[in-house]
This record gives sequence, structure tokens and C-alpha cells, in this order.
Amino acid sequence: MEHIFSTEISILEISYLFASILFILGLKKLSHPETARAGNLWAAAGMIAAIVFTILFHKKDGQPIGNIIWIVVAIAIGSVIGWYSSKKVKMTAMPQMVSIFNGMGGACAALISLMEFPKMQTMFAAAGATNMFNGEAIAILLALMIGGVSFAGSMIAFGKLDGRIGNFKSPILRIVNLSFLVLLLIAVVFIMTLQPVAGNNMIIYLFAIAALIYGVTFVMPIGGADMPVVISLLNSFTGVAAAMGGFLYNNQAMLTGGILVGSSGTILTILMCKAMNRSLLNVIIGAFGGNAESSVQSGDKNVKEISLSDAAILLSYSQKVYIIPGYGLAVAQAQHLCHELDNLLESKGVEVKYGIHPVAGRMPGHMNVLLAEADVPYEKLVEMDDVNNDISNTDVVIVIGANDVVNPAAETDPSSPIFGMPVIKAWDAKNIIVMKRSMAKGYAAIENNLFYHAKNRMLFGDAKATLQKLIAEIKSI
Ligand code: TAP
Repeated sequence: MEHIFSTEISILEISYLFASILFILGLKKLSHPETARAGNLWAAAGMIAAIVFTILFHKKDGQPIGNIIWIVVAIAIGSVIGWYSSKKVKMTAMPQMVSIFNGMGGACAALISLMEFPKMQTMFAAAGATNMFNGEAIAILLALMIGGVSFAGSMIAFGKLDGRIGNFKSPILRIVNLSFLVLLLIAVVFIMTLQPVAGNNMIIYLFAIAALIYGVTFVMPIGGADMPVVISLLNSFTGVAAAMGGFLYNNQAMLTGGILVGSSGTILTILMCKAMNRSLLNVIIGAFGGNAESSVQSGDKNVKEISLSDAAILLSYSQKVYIIPGYGLAVAQAQHLCHELDNLLESKGVEVKYGIHPVAGRMPGHMNVLLAEADVPYEKLVEMDDVNNDISNTDVVIVIGANDVVNPAAETDPSSPIFGMPVIKAWDAKNIIVMKRSMAKGYAAIENNLFYHAKNRMLFGDAKATLQKLIAEIKSI
């Protein structure tokens, strides 16, 4: 009996199915902090299986894969860089690392296209085709365009998050961007109308350069608190570009992996836009002011401070306390002390919970990851809407290193760039204690009226040092 598929192809296809299942299960596990670490490993195992089985069983024109040494060396170099940088990276620099890694994915998809276009052209030219209207050309061109935009955009996003590149906002850039997008799409159709000529590849290089320039101009005007949204959007672009590679090579693992990244990136983008009460279009045209001025004037307002002993007494004799963590908690690396304070208060009969704002910190889920690292039970983390429903019967809200996510201007000041963004209504609690080093602004670079609120008292200092002293003070009561 004649077999349609060789045993090797069957093994390879089954391994891709297996890898896809591991990707899906891994992604599912990522949705809960307790299983997220395992989910990451499951997905990585799927990727390793796909790579190993491809090297062992993939055949082209009956021949096994060549250049094995080069492939192994490249994988080794990539793995060492990835392992080293993920070990070294500071928690506060995670968004930068995510940007770079995401950009590398986009670059891979774009490079695949740059390699495959000349081959496709040669093949069509030999077959005497008069144009390149076919699925392969669409996949190659879209992967190059989307991957190129994702790579260049991610590099600019990295520069912005790292404070190396400022915002460049101009109404002209909006027109330039729109024109670029239209031009790139026209170019995709135009290139497909060309008669294939073997060795004539200048057009694809020009197209790649245009995609890279668009990636730069696309991210340049976006700034301030919109950066996480743009990173998640670029992440979904990389997924779509990788999925195009899956179409091109008829590779199920690449296709499933790309679709999962593309769709989860898109869902995350939508969720973050919702969390900030902004439309995606609004984010993309760069309307958020990273350096905008709000109408809050601080000159004639009083800031009250609280002493450590008063804070210790207030907390010890409370019934219910909410801790609102923010970026400063991550900077101070005070998550373990935060948990210690929580345990200490609970031992005195105080109910302690954490109010988690979806964009507190500098990356999606930043506070969840940070607190999970300190073994804070997941049930203690309360989502913003539930906190706001519960906060009026709370004795004390302790804001630790958070600023924008508790800024009342989001509700009261239509001129504020964060107006309309949902925030945790710390001012509804009976007492507020804000722990930070100074009166400095947060990420959105705007004043915060909460610090001058009648119910608020500031506990100035580095979050770690202050928590250490506060814990000692409570123990001494
Ligand atoms: P921010 O508004 O950035 O405020 C953090 C505050 O922490 C600062 O005002 C700073 O004040 C204080 N701080 C810094 N180091 C500290 C330390 N060692 N000890 C004590 N306090 C310290 O943070 P947030 O409230 O978490 O809001 C997050 C902001 O970042 C939002 O605007 C959000 O949109 C944006 N963003 C979010 C993400 C994601 S996805 N989460 C990604 C990028 C940007 P002092 O200097 O006075 O101490």
C-alpha cells in the first residue's frame, strides 16, 4: 500500500500538534499567578519540541535540514543572551526587556520574508508567471510589513521606556503616519502586480526600509501612560507576522503560536484601553500628554505629614485596611516588607487587603507579579472596581509608591490628561496615608490633589526604609 505521508512527515505534523497544544495550555496557565510559572515552562517545552522535531524530521526535496552546526550555534547564542538578560533584568526594567524581545520576534518574521521573496521570485520567473498575485506573496509582504513595523516600533518603545528617547508630537506626524500606512498597503498590491524577474530584488528592500520608517514614526508620537498599550499592540503585530510565516511554510506550530500571540496581544490591548478609558485610535494618534500640564495648582495647599508612631497606632487600631501598591513599591523592592506589615496587622485582628489598579506599575500585571513574589495570597488582591465599591467602609488606605492610579483629577479635572481614566478612589476611605519619597509627580507627570486632601497624611521616605520603621513601631505598641 502506498503512503501519502512519509513516517517522518507524520511524526513532524504530530509534534507540531503537540507543540500547539502545549502553547494553548501554557497560555491558559499564564492567566493565574499560581500557575503562570508552569505555563511559561509548558509553552517553552512546546517550542523546544517544535524546534527539535523540525531539525530531526523536516525534509526539503527529500533532503534533511543542512547547516545544523550554524543552527545549534545560533540557538545557543540566543539562549545564553535570553537567559542572562532575564536573570539580570531589574523588575522595574521588565517593560524595556519585553519591548526588545518583542522587536526580535518582528525582526525574525521580516527576515524570513526578505529571504523568501527572492526565492519566490526566481521560482515564478522560471515558471513564466506574469505577476505575483498569489497567497505566498501576500504572506511574505504582510509578514515583512508587520514584522518590520513591530521591530522598529519596539526599538523606539524601548528607547522611550528607558528614557533615552523623548516624545515627538506633531499634527504633521499624524498625516505622515496615515499616508505611510496607505502607501505601504498600496505597495503590497503594486509589488504583486510586477512581473517576477529572478535576481531583481531592489523593490523588496525598499519596501522593508519603508516598513521600518513607518515603525519609527508610528511609535514616536505615543507617550506617557499609553506606552503599555502600544507595547501590547506591537506584541500582537509580531504574533500576526509570525502567523504569516506559518502560512508560508505550512507550519502549524508557527501558525498556532503566531495566532495565540496575535490574539492575546489584541485582547490585552483592548483591556488596557478599557482600563484607561481610552479608544485605541486615541492612543495611536498620541493624544496622551506625558508632559502635559494639569490645572492643579499646589502653591496654596497644605500637605499634612504623619509621624511613624501615629501611623502605627492608626493602623493597629483599625478594623479594615487597604494597601494600594504602585510603581514605587517595585522601585523600593519593598514587597516582602509590605507582606510582613500585612501579616503583623492581621495578627492584631486587622483585615488587610490589596487594591490593585490594572495599570499600576510599568507593565500589565506588575503588582500581581510583585506581590506573588512576596507570597501574598492571591485572594487578598482585590480588583479596582471591587475596591471602589468597598472603600467607604475602610478605616485606612495606605498608598505605597502609587501616584497616577489614585489621582482624583481623573474624575474631577476635565483639563487633566488622565481625565476619564478609572482610578482607585482612595479619598473615599476614612483615612489615607501616602508613602513616597517626596511630592514628585508620577509617570503621567501631573500633580496629584490626593496629597492635599483633608483625610490624607504623607509618610515621606523610601518605601522599604519607611515600612521597616513602621513595622518596628507597630511591634513596639
Ligand atoms: P506612578 O504614577 O509612576 O507613581 C509612582 C510613585 O512612586 C512616584 O510618584 C514616586 O514618588 C514613588 N516612588 C518612586 N520610588 C519610590 C521609592 N523608592 N519609595 C517610595 N516611593 C517611590 O505609579 P503608579 O501609581 O503605579 O501608576 C502607574 C503609571 O505608569 C500610570 O500612569 C500608568 O499608566 C503608567 N504605566 C503603566 C504601565 C502598566 S501596564 N502598568 C506601563 C507603563 C506606564 P517619589 O519620587 O516622590 O518617591
